[in-house]
Amino acid sequence: MKTVRSIASLRENLASWRQFGETVALVPTMGNLHEGHMRLVEQARALADRVVVSVFVNPAQFGPGEDFATYPRTLDADRRRLTRADVDILFTPDVDAMYPGGIERSTVVRVPGLSDILCGAARPGHFSGVASVVTRLFTIVMPQWAFFGEKDFQQLLIIRTLVRDLHLPVAIEAVPTAREPDGLALSSRNQYLDDEARGRAPILFRALSACAERLRAGERDFRTLEREGLAAVSAAGAVPDYFAVRTPDALAEPAKTAREFVVLTAARFGRTRLIDNLQVRT
Ligand code: PAF
Repeated sequence: MKTVRSIASLRENLASWRQFGETVALVPTMGNLHEGHMRLVEQARALADRVVVSVFVNPAQFGPGEDFATYPRTLDADRRRLTRADVDILFTPDVDAMYPGGIERSTVVRVPGLSDILCGAARPGHFSGVASVVTRLFTIVMPQWAFFGEKDFQQLLIIRTLVRDLHLPVAIEAVPTAREPDGLALSSRNQYLDDEARGRAPILFRALSACAERLRAGERDFRTLEREGLAAVSAAGAVPDYFAVRTPDALAEPAKTAREFVVLTAARFGRTRLIDNLQVRT
């Protein structure tokens, strides 16, 4: 596996592969790779001739007071894992390469509506930071496929929308959430939890599962389900941002006749904000 920092040298490698008609998959990450990321890499490896994994902690998607400075950076361990997974290129650009005009003066990609609700309401500017960096990664790498986890469900929909709107020739592949045995969704932020908070964190999965069960049993009073979800998360000592039953295509409020849902939640355990979701078909 090669580690490449510059866009120019990444493009040289890509051009030499394309000369031979080889296909390319991209797995965008912020590093600190865990089993969830490795599932994306495995699926990319199974589909494409060549796999590029980017590790870039994107300052544009962190708000003031968020964890940009302390976000875990573990490049050596990441490199070892990716080498074992037979990745072709680890792309680790620096901030100046990704935002040559400086972040404040750079072109912004924003998906209105979807970016302003749920996590977007709690983290203003977050999704335009995500959309702006993912668009750059797509135009730099020009992969046939790009892989994202369903854990960041709202992010996934925003990326699908920008790909459609900007006519980008990349297929977005979604990979199911990897979980601990007690249901906690894998996340780099889980390591911020102390033992006590780690013990409480599976409430997110339990509350989502209980809501999914009630939807499958025919409950269609979404307000009541949301209130029950919020109460369960609060009772476990977390501070919920939201607990919402939505449509899986647009995150809109579902009709009573709907058969497909996504239930999403975000909550703070002390200073650590965790998110999770479950898709439900009835
Ligand atoms: O999901 C993530 O890790 C990030 O939001 C992404 C997609 C790599 C963009 O920085």
